[in-house]
Amino acid sequence: MDENMEYRQSLWLQGRKAQHFPKLEQDCKVDVLVVGGGLAGLNCAWELHKAGVKVAVLEAVRLGGGTSARTTGKITSQHELLYGSLETQYGRALAQQAAMANESAISAIAGVVEGLNIDCDFQRESAYVFTQSEGFVNKIEREDQLAQEFGIRSALVQEIPLPLPVLTAVRFENQAQFHPIRYMDALAAELARQGVQIYEHSRAVALDWDGRYTVTTEGGKKAVAERVILATHYPFVNKPALFFTRLYVERSYLMAVKMKEPFPGGMYINAEEPVRSLRGAGDLLLVGGENHRTGQAVDTEARYGALEEFARTNFTVQDIPLRWSAEDCMTMDGLPYIGEFSPEYPGLYVATGFNKWGMTGTMVSALVLSGLIIRGENDWADAFSPARGSSASAIGTFIVENTITGVELVKGKLPAKEEGPAADDMGRVIVDENGKRLGVCRDEQGKLHVVDLTCPHMGCELQWNRAERSWDCPCHGSRFTMDGAILDGPAVHELGTIEVSTIKKLLTERF
Ligand code: FES
Repeated sequence: MDENMEYRQSLWLQGRKAQHFPKLEQDCKVDVLVVGGGLAGLNCAWELHKAGVKVAVLEAVRLGGGTSARTTGKITSQHELLYGSLETQYGRALAQQAAMANESAISAIAGVVEGLNIDCDFQRESAYVFTQSEGFVNKIEREDQLAQEFGIRSALVQEIPLPLPVLTAVRFENQAQFHPIRYMDALAAELARQGVQIYEHSRAVALDWDGRYTVTTEGGKKAVAERVILATHYPFVNKPALFFTRLYVERSYLMAVKMKEPFPGGMYINAEEPVRSLRGAGDLLLVGGENHRTGQAVDTEARYGALEEFARTNFTVQDIPLRWSAEDCMTMDGLPYIGEFSPEYPGLYVATGFNKWGMTGTMVSALVLSGLIIRGENDWADAFSPARGSSASAIGTFIVENTITGVELVKGKLPAKEEGPAADDMGRVIVDENGKRLGVCRDEQGKLHVVDLTCPHMGCELQWNRAERSWDCPCHGSRFTMDGAILDGPAVHELGTIEVSTIKKLLTERF
């Protein structure tokens, strides 16, 4: 996704001066092909390249143009109340493996920053999970106990440095934050300098297996590899079948706030809903939260309103210069899927489902997958394996989330209805003479754009996202611009567009 295509832009893309990389114009052959040029893909490429593996990276549009550029940039092993939840679901040993992997990821990122002397505002900070609700006090206390048992420096506190009353909080020490895009751009430049092939504007549209993998780009070029890592956020292939049922996609919102009082340092998130996530960035306070399943929010613009109200209630806001949103892949049990997809496809790996904690998740992916590829093992591989069994609560989440997807898939087969409002001629849905839903938008230059609202991925019907001016899929989270270009996968094809002249009569009746 090109950074200029979004209606609102992330702090991390301001003034970006990144190297550009060529399109794949000739077939290539490597040991490991990494599909996806975000933090997950580049961290994996780096760990493999360091070990002497011949790697290439294929990116659909621009490196870091997806979720990597829209995160809070917190690098923590503290992932809300993850370890208590994992202990309940799978037992203490697995919770400990996840904690150790996340702690190691922080050290590994620190090592890259130091080793390559990357100027990315990397700094150590404490990370707090706080609550204002009695129902979470015991859980926070258990998270602190587990952290201490696992060797993480943590403490229970009854106050936090922010002007928010809390009942209790757990503080993890020696965590970190950074500027994710400066880190990523420096890593990409170093990989390229050391001879790693990186291709942009080379969207992978097909993957075939005949003893080796062949990935075909939309330009028809082929990249052949013994092994492939899918680091495309939501995997673009459904291998093994039904893998798509094990992920769902959420959007969340962030704003950069200029406030009168100085930010006291630290990174924060609450345990309850609605989620509020905070950190400082230079003279700005980042406030995030308001997550919801993609394509399912009635009024996405109101999400920014809720964050603004929170900021104005608790801080002296002078200005809100930036606001943006992010898309995250969520798993049923709160742990990412990192590892071999299935024994049916040896050498095909996935790194996805970071559950909004992708800074450590992407580096855990690099450590686990490089271990599996180079040595055939990694200490944490079982914990993150896509082949792991499901806990009872994960099965419950699976049923809820797949019921929503199922309903959306069925809705797409029902007779279509027209929808307003179209006060600004944005996001209007009309139905053509064949019963097909068409999405109509008028851009700032007054030009009308008409697209077919059937998602090219698996046929769900797209919904208008007013805040981001995009067409969003409620099933697996693909998103498209008003003229049909892909913003987020797993779709690999753009929306069908309709020439305005061919439906002039219909448009005249409706507008
Ligand atoms: Fe899967 Fe739209 S149907 S993303």
